[in-house]
Amino acid sequence: MARKYGGPLSERRKARMRAVVERRQFDLTVVLEDLADPHNAAAVYRSSEAFGLAELHIVAERAIWPGMHPAVTASAHRWVETRRWYDPELCCKGLQDRGFTVLCAALDDDARDYRDVDWTLPTALVLGQEKQGVSPDMLKRADGCVIVPMVGFAQSLNVSVCGGIVLSEALRQRREAGMCEPTWDDQREALFQRWVSREEGLPQSE
Ligand SMILES: C[S@@+](CC[C@H](N)C(=O)[O-])C[C@H]1O[C@@H](n2cnc3c(N)ncnc32)[C@H](O)[C@@H]1O
Repeated sequence: MARKYGGPLSERRKARMRAVVERRQFDLTVVLEDLADPHNAAAVYRSSEAFGLAELHIVAERAIWPGMHPAVTASAHRWVETRRWYDPELCCKGLQDRGFTVLCAALDDDARDYRDVDWTLPTALVLGQEKQGVSPDMLKRADGCVIVPMVGFAQSLNVSVCGGIVLSEALRQRREAGMCEPTWDDQREALFQRWVSREEGLPQSE
């Protein structure tokens, strides 16, 4: 594979980037709350990018967030903009102020079946820590909980699997509602231009 460094992108590459930007879902996002295993976080990035999410939120009390390795995320973290928070309540409020309903994936008795949620509305899905789950602060401030029903011995799903299942349903609903049709607007143009400037300064593969 020929590799060159920086410089103008080919028209083919730009067309590919446009096709992705045209289908980006700006009003569906995921919040990862203090995940301990970077492989889990990387897997969520990968599914989020594949399902067309434009941004992803990380709540991390740790001083250092372990780096995302391109081999694990398949470079997905480069195409999903990350917003980082240190406080779960501020993250939740920040999203609500932008019009998002914040739903926590949680093994809660009052949680709604994820298939009964209207995912065509602006929604943020919170995925909790591998051992402790979603924090009490986030649960207190969020708008509700969703659950992926289980019937086996396992007490929970792997966090990235849970994210993939819920996002798949969200995208199914959005496709049916015509929300995944190619479209272009100022927000998409701005994202496209950011990607082009960044890529033109990076090693590229054709
Ligand atoms: C391994 S689970 C954490 C289990 C933890 N002991 C608890 O009680 O939440 C990691 C995260 O995956 C999500 N999760 C896993 N299985 C789920 C399910 N069946 N329904 C909803 N969320 C689930 C939740 O966000 C959870 O915080």
